[in-house]
This record gives sequence, C-alpha cells and structure tokens, in this order.
Amino acid sequence: MTGEREPIGVIGVGWVGLVTAACFAELGHEVIARDIVPEKVEALARGETTIHEPGLSELLARNAERLTFTTDMGQLLERARLLFTCVDTPPTRSGDADLSRVRSVVADLSGGDHVLVMKSTVPAGTGASIRRDRPGLPYVSCPEFLKEGTAVEDFMHPDRVVIGADPGDEGAGDAVARLYEPLGGEIVRTDVASAEMIKLASNAFLATKISFVNEIANVCEEVGADVGEVARGMGLDQRIGPAFLRAGIGYGGSCFPKDVSALKMLAGNSGYHFQLLGAVIEVNELQKRRVVGKLQKHLGSLAGKRVALLGLAFKPDTDDMREASSLVLAARLQGEGATVVAYDPVAVDAAQGLLDGVEFRASALEALEGADAAVLVTEWPEFAALDWRKAGERMTRPLLVDGRNFLDSAALREAGFEYEGIGRAVESSVPAGTAE
Ligand SMILES: NC(=O)c1ccc[n+]([C@@H]2O[C@H](COP(=O)([O-])OP(=O)(O)OC[C@H]3O[C@@H](n4cnc5c(N)ncnc54)[C@H](O)[C@@H]3O)[C@@H](O)[C@H]2O)c1
Repeated sequence: MTGEREPIGVIGVGWVGLVTAACFAELGHEVIARDIVPEKVEALARGETTIHEPGLSELLARNAERLTFTTDMGQLLERARLLFTCVDTPPTRSGDADLSRVRSVVADLSGGDHVLVMKSTVPAGTGASIRRDRPGLPYVSCPEFLKEGTAVEDFMHPDRVVIGADPGDEGAGDAVARLYEPLGGEIVRTDVASAEMIKLASNAFLATKISFVNEIANVCEEVGADVGEVARGMGLDQRIGPAFLRAGIGYGGSCFPKDVSALKMLAGNSGYHFQLLGAVIEVNELQKRRVVGKLQKHLGSLAGKRVALLGLAFKPDTDDMREASSLVLAARLQGEGATVVAYDPVAVDAAQGLLDGVEFRASALEALEGADAAVLVTEWPEFAALDWRKAGERMTRPLLVDGRNFLDSAALREAGFEYEGIGRAVESSVPAGTAE
C-alpha cells in the first residue's frame, strides 16, 4: 500500500467527502469511501448523486470504476492507508462543535499503518487530543475550504491547501501534500493547531465581512447611500478586496453559523471573550428579521397576508437547507400571522419537514399567485430571468423585498413593483456589491 497510486480512503460522503472522493478519482486515484448511512451508500453505488452540486454527477459517472462506496470500515482499512475524514461536526446545544462522529471514526481505527487526515472542521486542539489518546497514529490536519455550489471547481483549483502535521508526522504530511500538488494551489505546511485555526479564522473572517457590510447597508438606508456603490468603492482597495461585500439578509449554511459559534466558544472555554464574534452573530440574526419590518412598512400588519418566498436554499446551486435564512424568515412571518408560500428550483425536497405550515409551489409564478408580497431569499439565476411584469399581474400587490440585492430595481419598478432592497438607494438599478 505504499506505491504512488495507493488507494485513498474517504470517511463520510456528504458534501465534503463526496466531492473529495470524486475529485481524487478524477485525478486518477482509486478511492474507497465509507459512510454509515446505508441508503446513501446504496444510492451512490447505483450511480445516483446524493447531493445537488454542479459537475459532481459527471465526475462520479466518469470515474465510477475507480470509486467504491461501502458501509464496511474493515474494507476501507484493509485497502487504504490515507484516511480522509469528512464526517459532520454540527453544533452542540452549547454552541461548541460536536466531535462525536470524529471520535467514533478514531475508535474504529485499530492497528495498521493508517494516517488520519482530518478534513472535518474541528476546534483547535482536536488533533492534539487525538494524538494524546492514540499515540502512534499519524495525524494530519487538512481543512477543507470548498464552497457549496462551486465545490468541484474549488477542490480542483484551490486558492491554497493547508496541511498541518506535528513533529514525527512530517512524512504523513508529505504524502498528503503529494496528492494536492497536481492542483497547483499554494500548499501551506504548518503545525496541526495552526492548521485548525486557519480554517476557523478564515470562516469567522468571511462571516465578519458579511455582517460588516450588512451593518453598512443598514446605515446606508438611514443616510440615503447605496451599499452597492459603497461596496464597489471599498472593494477596489486591495487591502479590502471585493469578495464577500454583498449586503443581504445574512449568511447561513452548514459552515459559517456553526464555525463562528465554535470559535467563539473555543475562545470562551480557554478563558478569552471573543467580543467581535458575538456582534457578528447578533448582526446576522437581526438581519434576517429586518425583512419583516420592510414588509410591515408597506403592508402594516402581516396578519392574514400571503407572502411568497422565492428561494429556500441557503445559497444558489445547492439544495442544502442547513441554517438557511428562509427557515427563520418563514417562522417570523408565520409568527406575524402571515401565510407563507414558497418555491425553490432544487431545495423543496430538502425543505419538506423543516418548514411547518409553508405551502410549496412548483414554480415562481405559481408561488406569486395572489401574494401580497414576495421576498427573494436565494439568488437563483432563474429569478433574474423571470417575466416580472407577468409576475406582478398575478400578485394581489406587486411588492418585492429583494433580500440579496439581486434584481434590477429600476426594471422592477418599471414593471409596476414596489421594490425594497437591502441598503439600496431608491434610484439604484445597479446590482449591489460583487459576488461572494
Ligand atoms: N459543506 C461545506 O461546504 C463544508 C466546507 C468546508 C468544510 N466543511 C466541514 O466538513 C465536514 C463535513 O461537512 P459536510 O457538509 O460534508 O457534512 P455532511 O453532513 O454533508 O456529511 C457528513 C457525512 O458523514 C457521515 N458520517 C457520520 N459519521 C460517520 C462515520 N463514523 N463513518 C462514516 N461516515 C460518517 C454522515 O452520514 C454524512 O454522510 C464538517 O466538519 C464541515 O464543517 C464543510
């Protein structure tokens, strides 16, 4: 098992694991991937793709011969030495990262010359604690930075690959580095704790940037400025950069909320009060709720009103509903007595069961039928292409809150809409900010 093309093990085939498995197979490696959910493994073994991620189905189909999906840890341990661990690390009730799945993987390892390569996002100190518990088990931290919606592209063309290995495990770190060298991104070699912190700090910084521009947007509304113009002017400063300066109704998804909280708690558990992150989280929570006030500004009480949500997924090109802003928004609107009707091009199946009492529709136009207002929650391209004049005619009142500053506000007004963006000046027709 020591040749250049030794099989690679992947543990956990969710977003990170499945993309990792498919991309390593595309690079010519044999991959054995294990998950504990039999239905998922069976579906993948049949050639079905279990998540919506552009380009992934094609990679899985093209490399089917190099990919084995199994529930059997024994099979994985027998054939693979490098074990890329991609299990979920959700938040606990206390806001810390739940490491139970990581610990269960460690408990499954016995004997052999395996290397545990940690791609799951874990608090700094996790690697050190695993090394203490399992002396002699080589450990490499290799955090993942892919973004859902562009995950395959991000894996294949990384900005950087971070590889943390402590003294004694440098050889294991070299083996992981060799796998990533063909991708061309800068490889950052460091110690395990620093690698773990790079991941947490990166996500916390990006979340901070979003909450910052959202607060700027809120001030813009007070002073008559346009956040799109402000973000454009700010982003041209190379020290600031244009990415993640797009105002909206806040971040969601499986990573930012839990990782920001996990870093805040990690600091707190060590006796340090990370004040800034407390504000980042609070701004994000309040930002989703501001939509309700915007609707009330036009409609007064929302009791008995019909509000259409356009988009449910936490971002476009994914069906991931974890921590999606739509969940909070729907509950708040229902709390005000509104009836909520929703459409999403791909996330409706994933949303079933998460949105009690919400009526789902098969198209945007159907969702808008008879609505007193619409909220654009997810910036799916098809919403930009919608015939808004026709849409407005179907609504009881053509009122739109554009929660992502995604649409051309002048065109919407031209089509007869009352239009509310986030921090956008009334006359603005420029899509705000730059893409995240
Ligand atoms: N989703 C992202 O965009 C993203 C990006 C970067 C990093 N991460 C991090 O990567 C990790 C995985 O995230 P995800 O979104 O892929 O999670 P996910 O929930 O989509 O997938 C995790 C998978 O692990 C499986 N699993 C759990 N315990 C297992 C075990 N003992 N053996 C085998 N499989 C097991 C689950 O059944 C599931 O299929 C998390 O720590 C996350 O924070 C996620």
